[in-house]
Amino acid sequence: MSALQTHDDNPAQWQQNDVAGTMHVRSGKPVLDTSHKAILYLENISVSFDGFKAINDLNLYIDAGELRCIIGPNGAGKTTMMDIITGKTRPDTGQAWFGQQMNLLDMSEAEIAQAGIGRKFQKPTVFEQHSVFENLELAMAGDKGVWASLFATLNAVQRERIEEILGVIGLQAHSQQWAGALSHGQKQWLEIGMLLMQEPKLLLVDEPVAGMTHQEMDRTAELLISLAGQHSVVVVEHDMDFVRSIANKVTVLHQGSVLAEGTMDQVQNDERVKAVYLGE
Ligand SMILES: Nc1ncnc2c1ncn2[C@@H]1O[C@H](COP(=O)(O)OP(=O)(O)O)[C@@H](O)[C@H]1O
Ligand SMILES: [Mg+2]
Repeated sequence: MSALQTHDDNPAQWQQNDVAGTMHVRSGKPVLDTSHKAILYLENISVSFDGFKAINDLNLYIDAGELRCIIGPNGAGKTTMMDIITGKTRPDTGQAWFGQQMNLLDMSEAEIAQAGIGRKFQKPTVFEQHSVFENLELAMAGDKGVWASLFATLNAVQRERIEEILGVIGLQAHSQQWAGALSHGQKQWLEIGMLLMQEPKLLLVDEPVAGMTHQEMDRTAELLISLAGQHSVVVVEHDMDFVRSIANKVTVLHQGSVLAEGTMDQVQNDERVKAVYLGE
């Protein structure tokens, strides 16, 4: 068994699980097969906007359970790459697979999210007028709807799940606090917690520490490191000290392709990488 739990491939079983436990509807969902170690395959991906190649023959492989940092100068194609993974932008050419069997290019944005790819945008989007606990409750409900969720009674499993995530994101003490009153960093963690409620297999996180204090950055580093293993995490970040504090393997994007890949030391000592960053 890989580090990631995959669903039983008997659809009838999912239905049973849904009734007994989570509120997610998983019927008809394809199995995430990471038996060949990789969870994400991007191969020969290109996309042009008005003749400008934002992504140019990009190849990227992310392993199950890996924490990968993506760096690169402005305009390198980092956000566009995430848009392609989540189905927001369709490439002109290339292949994108989630595990061995799910062709991302054949799936809608909703299907991709449902299959287990969660995305954290730069700006936190929590429900400010609800408590931290309620935010996690709403996230668990997914497309069940806000009102249905707030008036439904949580069962013990669901309550436990929310408590567990409160622990992961370090907001137990703030459980009943109005989310609008959280600090910027706490809102970012809450939003990561909301993504975790959906049990993603792959988390895409765009510039998580922008605007954070040093203390919040340290806490975010711990959080992202703690998620790896059970989840694959892809972090796009500009802050090099932060990247150094969490990075295992770093990929440098430049002009829509991979310029270098390796440890932080390897890429920082790479002459091509130095040349690109000198221009910044
Ligand atoms: N929807 C779009 N239409 C036109 N140009 C775009 C669009 N999205 C991105 N680009 C261009 O593609 C390039 C890569 O952008 P982006 O992926 O946002 O880079 P990064 O996130 O690395 O800064 C940039 O030159 C940007 O202006
Ligand atoms: Mg960007």
